Amino acid sequence: MGKNRSESRTEKSWQSRLTSQADAETASFLASLDVDRALWRYDIAGSLAHARMLSESGLITQDEYQRIRDGLHSVADDIEHDRLEMPVELEDIHMVIEAALIERVGDVGGKLHTGRSRNDQVALDLRLWARDAIDDLCSRVAELQRAFVDLAERQGKVVIPAYTHLQRAQPTLAGHMMLAYVEMLQRDADRLTDCRRRVNVCTLGSGAAAGTTLPLDRERTAELLGFPRYSRNSIDATSDRDFLAELCFDCALLSVHLSRWAEDWIIFSTGEFGLLVLDDAYCTSSSMMPQKKNADTLELIRAQAGGGIGRLTGLLTLLKSLPIGYSRDLQDDKRFALPAVEACLSALKVAAGVVATARLDEPRIADALEDGFLDATSLAEYLVLKGVPFRKAHQVVGGLVVRAEREGKRLAEIPLEVLREAAGQVDADVEKHLGSANVVKRYSPDGSGGARQLLKQLNYWKRKLD
Ligand code: ARG
Repeated sequence: MGKNRSESRTEKSWQSRLTSQADAETASFLASLDVDRALWRYDIAGSLAHARMLSESGLITQDEYQRIRDGLHSVADDIEHDRLEMPVELEDIHMVIEAALIERVGDVGGKLHTGRSRNDQVALDLRLWARDAIDDLCSRVAELQRAFVDLAERQGKVVIPAYTHLQRAQPTLAGHMMLAYVEMLQRDADRLTDCRRRVNVCTLGSGAAAGTTLPLDRERTAELLGFPRYSRNSIDATSDRDFLAELCFDCALLSVHLSRWAEDWIIFSTGEFGLLVLDDAYCTSSSMMPQKKNADTLELIRAQAGGGIGRLTGLLTLLKSLPIGYSRDLQDDKRFALPAVEACLSALKVAAGVVATARLDEPRIADALEDGFLDATSLAEYLVLKGVPFRKAHQVVGGLVVRAEREGKRLAEIPLEVLREAAGQVDADVEKHLGSANVVKRYSPDGSGGARQLLKQLNYWKRKLD
């Protein structure tokens, strides 16, 4: 149309409707290329499937399809090798790819957008991206779970305190605590897998809002892209971002879980707690204090939950009050969802390394294990077995703890006569109920922190994570 090459490169396909053009600043304000260029592979995949369906449905010829297909492959190759210029005036990755295609294959490239709008196109790209994102997240979660399971196998039999209120509570095998994190992570994986079902719906064929008059074969497009079904309602399909909000929630909760674990391990690795030794590779030192070894990787994992919650809140706030049907606000969804997944993926990777290289500080744990009356509940339960009502037993043992604390003794060091005097029928076998190691041996039902239960859990997780 008499345009020179550089003008046509930045000319938008819908420019004819508008009588004046955005200045550079407005153009860059409108653009989402900085974030949606990350979706290029999905955009190409969607276009390839769409073009093939168009040819199979007789809307373009086989020859036209082949020229579009080869053109898309060559555009993809250039993007892959960072050779494609992406002028910001083209706004987004969809327009960049289409313009590059038309530049290469000529007018036939203009047939690609037949029966399609950027509204159903971007919804599709996001779904293709989210599907992969979920698969990556799930495999990283599994990698971290395996690291915890390995630690539970390596040093799981070490007896450590379990905490409530961050105060010493009851003794447990360390493996039991490691597998508590594995449970938490499994719920994250389950939630993501559940979200994937709602992500896995093909939106192509919805057009801008109410569909298209052209006879598209939606089933075929869905099939070509590996979707088990296509969307039922075009208005919903083009304006729905629930699947992204869910994904952001799943990432936010996952990052909250990681932050809880990170907080635990930061505390456990302090000189004061002395439960855990972190590998130096995951720590940093201080520019001033030569003795320092800080758990900075864990601190940053702890910090990331803030960003995760912020992104979820940002996306929900963006969606709130949006009228049904596409609005440009939706363009900014990517600014929350893409970094949400990125942050989780990198935190999971580092977390797996931290866990794989950590070790329990067995001598220090043993030194401090009998501090804090971890066996008090067990003593009360001993009395229960002798027929004492639990409330009464609790009261009696509470009194004994006060006395032992005053005398600087452990419960096991209180003479039998004193125990008898306080609690009635106490026999010499009480010693088998006192001391952390003995308590752990006596844990009875499934789900407790003893050896039999640990073995059962380990077997379960090894089978499940294989
Ligand atoms: N860049 C846009 C987005 O990400 C693509 C869809 C634009 N559609 C439109 N009608 N303006 O949402």
